[in-house]
Amino acid sequence: MTERAIDLKKGKKVLIAPSILSADPLSIGDSIRALDGEDDWIHVDIMDGHFVPNLSYGPMIVKALRRGFRDKFLDVHLMVEPAEDFIDMFIAAGPDILTVQVEAARHIHRALGAIRASGARPGVCIDPGTSMEMIEPVLHMVDLVLVMTINPGFGGQKFLPETLLKIKSLVRAREVRSLDFLIEADGGVNPQTAKDLSLSGCDVLVAGSAIFEARDPASAARAIRSGADVKWSA
Ligand code: DX5
Ligand code: ZN
Repeated sequence: MTERAIDLKKGKKVLIAPSILSADPLSIGDSIRALDGEDDWIHVDIMDGHFVPNLSYGPMIVKALRRGFRDKFLDVHLMVEPAEDFIDMFIAAGPDILTVQVEAARHIHRALGAIRASGARPGVCIDPGTSMEMIEPVLHMVDLVLVMTINPGFGGQKFLPETLLKIKSLVRAREVRSLDFLIEADGGVNPQTAKDLSLSGCDVLVAGSAIFEARDPASAARAIRSGADVKWSA
């Protein structure tokens, strides 16, 4: 892995990215503060009721998070189609990473190039039913590959174990091509699936319901981190 990627991971085995989709919409700021620093990134899900059968937030929420949490790393996941039409408005809101679904972009190189040119980090996301070949042509352009481990649209769904194969293929492709993107998993993450994901080579774990629906979100995030903190021999 190159210095750029190592720098992003800050020496941690995995990064934890709580998804505010499962936080109480009346008090998202308080929910983030209650994580007590257990969050490495804050994951923000943008849904359009078209690419996915659900609606969530627009750029205002990203802007408000940027204003309220200057030092947080904002990991924004666009589930909107066509992705290209929404890039400028989300870039203006100040994300650190802006990730587009490969299935929702008309011209994926153009979409990722526009994000990079804006100064933000580009990410590409792939659904469980989409083959790896779809993202192979752009792996050299991204800082992050977001692997959906559920079908996107809702929190609280069950992890699809077949997605672990895709993560392992990405680890191999990164090595063979000497690339330096991070691999992030999204959907159905809990302490047990965190272990499987970490053993498969995942760098960043998104977790919504397992953290924000827990009585103590900070210790739930800690439990996911220790689930992921396994050795190959474990
Ligand atoms: C779903 C979103 C996820 C969601 C995950 O489309 O992309 O980020 O918040 O929720 P959990 O962790 O509950 O599966
Ligand atoms: Zn997401």
